[in-house]
Amino acid sequence: MSLQLEPQINLFKKANPFIATVLKNERLTPTADKAKRPKKEGEADVHRIVLSVPHEQYPYLIGQSAGVIPPGDDPKKVEKGSPDTGYTVRLYSISSPTYSFGMTKNTLEFIIKRDNVYDEEGNILYKGVCSNYLCDLKTGDKVTLTGPSGKKFLLPKAEFDGDIYFLATGTGIAPFFGMSEELLKHKHFPFSGTITLIYGAPYSDEIVLRDYFLSLEKEFPQFKFIEAVSREQKNSFDGGKMYISHRVKEIAQEIKTSLQKQSKFYICGGPKGMERAVIEEIMKAINTDLTYEDFKKKYESSDQLFVETY
Ligand SMILES: Cc1cc2nc3c(=O)[nH]c(=O)nc-3n(C[C@H](O)[C@H](O)[C@H](O)COP(=O)(O)OP(=O)(O)OC[C@H]3O[C@@H](n4cnc5c(N)ncnc54)[C@H](O)[C@@H]3O)c2cc1C
Ligand SMILES: NC(=O)c1ccc[n+]([C@@H]2O[C@H](COP(=O)([O-])OP(=O)(O)OC[C@H]3O[C@@H](n4cnc5c(N)ncnc54)[C@H](OP(=O)(O)O)[C@@H]3O)[C@@H](O)[C@H]2O)c1
Repeated sequence: MSLQLEPQINLFKKANPFIATVLKNERLTPTADKAKRPKKEGEADVHRIVLSVPHEQYPYLIGQSAGVIPPGDDPKKVEKGSPDTGYTVRLYSISSPTYSFGMTKNTLEFIIKRDNVYDEEGNILYKGVCSNYLCDLKTGDKVTLTGPSGKKFLLPKAEFDGDIYFLATGTGIAPFFGMSEELLKHKHFPFSGTITLIYGAPYSDEIVLRDYFLSLEKEFPQFKFIEAVSREQKNSFDGGKMYISHRVKEIAQEIKTSLQKQSKFYICGGPKGMERAVIEEIMKAINTDLTYEDFKKKYESSDQLFVETY
């Protein structure tokens, strides 16, 4: 089999989209009545959505994103009298490995959270258009895709023996689901380094796919899974919330050694600005004199730092 090495981008656009069919839509977080999150903090509703997408038609690489166009008219555009009243494209990280789970070459997966805004009592104030549309999909429904998008947030293109750190908050876990599977199970390129996945979420029952990551840890000694549960755990530095940046600080010595082996850091998720706290801890670990901006530029250009925050 000849491997796809380079990302192909924008094969499908708004004017010529790819129409995918929903194979499965599974809720990954407990319903509000069973969840740890108090009612006044709203609800965390995260779904794993599997679409029928033949690789030969839509040749994505794990690490890329796909665009989704929600159906219907955007009321704001209608009000303005815009010539095109359709919704704008929303981007979602692809969460399945390059040739699909099971190497079937025919699916594309997402991990989607309903992006709602809640009032102080936990009642919905605003509903995200596309995330709610996706979380409500039923098997057999059609979804309009653009893309694939992105040519930077990618795995090494050849054999790699350095250490890899996956740093995720919330739905930022999406690409690391497929990347872990790709590196450890599909093994398109020999990988003899380690993977450390540090994954943060507000409550322990919002750490989705925990069983999958624990099973990888059991099967592969080079895979380590670390959780940062911000509203349940306290960090040992100032006794405040446990963030993924505190977990980075806890393994600072290991990170220093890894960086000498050309290790790679992938950061994904929200809120915006979370990456700064993480990158600053990596900088402290190696005691660099570089400014934040210069450090980011240097390690991004040497393909050791990859950031996708939203
Ligand atoms: C590269 C990339 C990858 C991404 N990957 C993922 C992923 O893997 N999984 C994932 O779940 N998301 C991901 N996202 C986020 C995703 O693209 C959307 O931004 C998200 O789903 C919200 O879109 P929406 O249409 O649901 O919300 P929108 O309708 O666009 O609304 C945006 C926000 O505004 C709020 N809102 C709506 N109306 C109002 C109002 N009148 N006043 C105030 N607030 C209002 C909504 O509740 C929502 O929180 C990614 C983003 C990027 C850029
Ligand atoms: N798919 C989406 O839901 C979506 C889409 C678009 C944008 N966003 C943005 O992303 C944010 C998080 O979304 P989410 O629901 O996917 O994630 P989430 O499940 O809320 O998880 C985010 C985690 O990061 C923690 N955190 C907050 N500030 C941090 C920092 N500076 N450094 C490290 N960790 C930090 C949070 O802690 P605490 O919350 O306990 O402080 C929480 O544990 C939202 O606030 C939103 O602005 C999300």
